[in-house]
Amino acid sequence: MASVSVSFIGGGAMAQAIAGGILESKTLGSESIHASATSNRFESWWTSRGMSFTIDNAECLNKSQVIVMAVKPHLYTEVFRRLADQGVKAENKLWVSIMAGVTLEDLQAAISTVTGGSGINDRVVRTIPNTPCKVGEGSVAVTYNMNCSQEDKVLVTKIFSGVARVTEIPERLQNAFAAMAGSGPAYIYQVIEGMADGGVMMGLPRALAVEHAAATVRGAATMVMQEKEKHSAQLKDEVCSPGGSTIRGVHKLEEGGVRVAFINAIQAACNRNEELGKK
Ligand SMILES: NC(=O)c1ccc[n+]([C@@H]2O[C@H](COP(=O)([O-])OP(=O)(O)OC[C@H]3O[C@@H](n4cnc5c(N)ncnc54)[C@H](OP(=O)(O)O)[C@@H]3O)[C@@H](O)[C@H]2O)c1
Repeated sequence: MASVSVSFIGGGAMAQAIAGGILESKTLGSESIHASATSNRFESWWTSRGMSFTIDNAECLNKSQVIVMAVKPHLYTEVFRRLADQGVKAENKLWVSIMAGVTLEDLQAAISTVTGGSGINDRVVRTIPNTPCKVGEGSVAVTYNMNCSQEDKVLVTKIFSGVARVTEIPERLQNAFAAMAGSGPAYIYQVIEGMADGGVMMGLPRALAVEHAAATVRGAATMVMQEKEKHSAQLKDEVCSPGGSTIRGVHKLEEGGVRVAFINAIQAACNRNEELGKK
């Protein structure tokens, strides 16, 4: 992707996770990645890796054709208002939002303040990534508005596929995806912590317990992804020998409501995403 460059408006945790992953996967070189924020607190993170950083959003915007909106969701309208006040005109950009809960319609309206139209002609992409993008193991769902071309889709897929599994979904599923995969790493860290606590309780050293609890989660996930012909219940059954120890553990997890707890967690997070989207 020699001629493409990407500007991140907002240079915090998620922008760094994605930009770091893009660099690591060599999808783009550091000279093609730019970022802006309100303060210099993350400047050295960007510049020490050869990317440019500024506290001037307009300057950052002018450097690229692909603009990733990576500020907190409640701040983006203010970002566009200020750009419009500065007289910034940003035409022919591909706008990629990673902001949780912000709809394509709302994004288009905000973007139109710097593109001079009603927003209905701008190319806008709504995505929801997760933090494992930082280590090239992310999950990203994307929804394109009707102005995006096949070329735009290929480009966005290329940018994210260096760091994540990328899937196009209809916009109505974005909040559910965010609740499951966007928030999901937090749930799995709790699982790893709980497994390690169990190991420690039964005598394993903490560091060993954490390392192997995490490796077990990754190994089990890889089995689910690779042995696609098997339902996860079958993979579970294969670990449970009759009258053995694993089925005793599985019984305790069922008694604790483990599956219901996950379903409830994702339902609660999804409902919250819907609420936030209405504010
Ligand atoms: N974290 C996640 O797991 C996750 C997952 C999916 C989606 N997201 C989405 O990613 C977005 C960013 O989240 P985050 O966790 O990366 O937040 P963050 O670490 O707080 O970073 C936000 C960045 O936005 C900058 N910013 C604030 N106001 C700005 C403005 N007016 N102009 C330019 N930059 C501005 C901040 O600047 P300063 O550095 O100067 O404060 C900071 O660099 C959010 O919309 C969130 O919904 C996050």
